[in-house]
Formats: sequence, C-alpha cells, structure tokens
Amino acid sequence: MKVLIDSGAIDVRAVWFEDGKVKMIDQRILPHQFQIVEFTSYLEVAEAIKNMTVRGAPAIGAAAAYGMALAYLQKVNLAEAATVLKATRPTAFDLFYAVDKMLEAAAKNEDLLEAAENYAEQIVDKCRRIGGYGAELIANDYVIMTHCNAGALATVDVGTALAPMRVARDQGKKIFVYASETRPRLQGMKLTAWELLNEGIPHKIIADGASGAVMRNGVDMVIVGADRIAANGDFANKIGTFDKAVLAHELGIPFYVAAPVSTFDFSIQSGQEIVIEDRAEEEVTVVDGVRIAPCGCHALNPSFDMSEAKYVTAFITEIGVLTPSEIGRIREYYQ
Ligand code: MRU
Repeated sequence: MKVLIDSGAIDVRAVWFEDGKVKMIDQRILPHQFQIVEFTSYLEVAEAIKNMTVRGAPAIGAAAAYGMALAYLQKVNLAEAATVLKATRPTAFDLFYAVDKMLEAAAKNEDLLEAAENYAEQIVDKCRRIGGYGAELIANDYVIMTHCNAGALATVDVGTALAPMRVARDQGKKIFVYASETRPRLQGMKLTAWELLNEGIPHKIIADGASGAVMRNGVDMVIVGADRIAANGDFANKIGTFDKAVLAHELGIPFYVAAPVSTFDFSIQSGQEIVIEDRAEEEVTVVDGVRIAPCGCHALNPSFDMSEAKYVTAFITEIGVLTPSEIGRIREYYQ
C-alpha cells in the first residue's frame, strides 16, 4: 500500500492488513531503502515489534492488534498470543491498551480482524484531531523543535507530534522544524527528517547535544510524542526528551506532548512507576553495522526517559489541549 500522491511524495502507512498478512514498512532500513515486509503469524509480528521493524507507541499498538487478529484467524489461543505480544516492549502503553481491546472484543465474540482494522483507523482519526488541536497553538513563522519520530511511521498514519505541523502547513502557516537526531537509533534523523522532507516541511537535523544552544537561539515551541503518561502527567518518551523538557522550562519555551488517549495509563500514579526499556549496548557502540566505540568498552542504553508533569505546558490529545492538571478529563472519555 505504498501510494504515490499528487506531489510525488509517499503516502506513508506504517502497518496494515492485506491478503491475509500483516504488512509494514521496515523502519530499520529507512531512509535509504524502502521495503515492505509481511507477516503471517502473531509470533512474527511480536518479533517485528521487538526488533523495531515497526516502532512508535501507537503503531506498536496497531501492529499488536493485527497480531491478535492473525492469532484469531489461525485459531491460536488468544491469551497466549496476548502474553507474547505484551512481552515485546515494556514502555509503550498503547501496546497493552491495544491487546486488551482485542481481548475485550474476543470476549464479546467480535471478529478480531474487523476490530483490529477499526483500531488502526481510529488511531489515524485521533491523530487527525490531534493535528487540528495542535495547529491552533502554532503561529505563522514558528520555529518548532521535536525529538525522535512521532510522525506517520510511529502512528500508522498522520502522526502525533508531527500532525500539528502538517495541519499548520496545510493552513498556509510558514513553519521551520528542528529534528534532533535521537541517538542511539537515530529515529529523528532517519525517520522524522525523511517524513518532513516527504511532506515538504522546511527543517534541519541537529545533533542531540545542540538542543540547548539551538533553543536559546530562537525556538518557539517544542512538541514531542509519548510512550506512556501517568495519572499525574509525568510521561516517558524517547531518551533525550527529559533534557529538552528541562531546557525548555529553563528557557521559558512552551513544551507540548502530543499523544492519543491510548497512551495515558491511569493505573499508575506517577512516572516513577513507568518501566523503562533497556536495550542492547550494541545500539550505542555500533552505528549502521560499524563498531565506533573502542573494543572492550561497554555502554548503557536506556531507551526512554521520564519527565515530570511540571515540565509540560499541555498535552495535545484527540479530545483537546489539556494541562497536566486537566488530564483527569480523559478518564471520563474512557467510560
Ligand atoms: O523506541 P521507539 O522508536 O519506539 O520510540 C518512539 C518514541 O519514543 C516516540 O516518541 C513515541 O513512541 C511517540 S510515537 C507517536
């Protein structure tokens, strides 16, 4: 489902179901190779989530929903499939939310392929709403900083942090985006910059360590995504987000977190309870297959960090822009 749109740009869809298979853009090899990979079992989908063929909290959720649909179609034990899928990546709450939604649908004897298709479509719809609300915060000539990738690749389509930028651009506003490279896996440079280029949004890549200096020289707002948001508004996102949150606070720059309701985990009271995924040290010491670090040196590789609610100006959600003290309203939306 790689569709060329009028401008010649690619209409990105991170994950979908076609011909009995779950299909995904292989995000491990972008931007220099564009390849669609396909999976026929939930075990393969689980592995694709783990090895980050598909990544970004909402897209992981959709992939897991499709994984559950494959298990249902193949009459595999759904509780077992749910356990395996939930064990892939610990931090992204959308994964757990999506798998539980599929178990609820199964308990109601619903068709899980239909449920997964609806789940994926709903995410895209939520992202469009996030784009609409977020664009209201963007004025003409704004310079915006983002981190990691919270675009279409991370959310099935449209994006969370990138959605307001796309809508602002469509509204005719002139914007400029700084995308920090996001060591160690470089999602900012490899994926966000690729999406911004594809969308025709003016941008520059910056080294992660340049964030403070670039912010001080004139950034109007920061917009990032999230992997899990606690009841008090503390949130986890890609490693390096905390640095930006503190810098923005110090420099008086508004700091927004764009995320759908499926990223809010009201079962935990604060960010202290968020499990932060540790990944292989080779993600740090080896870059694109080449060992950079001295042999014999080891690396620590926390994949996410946690930022306290006090750093967040507001959350941009599909139900509106909410300050940390207002996010309790999302609970009503859940019911
Ligand atoms: O490890 P990744 O690439 O899955 O991490 C992705 C992020 O941290 C994103 O910012 C987050 O999932 C929000 S995606 C809309």
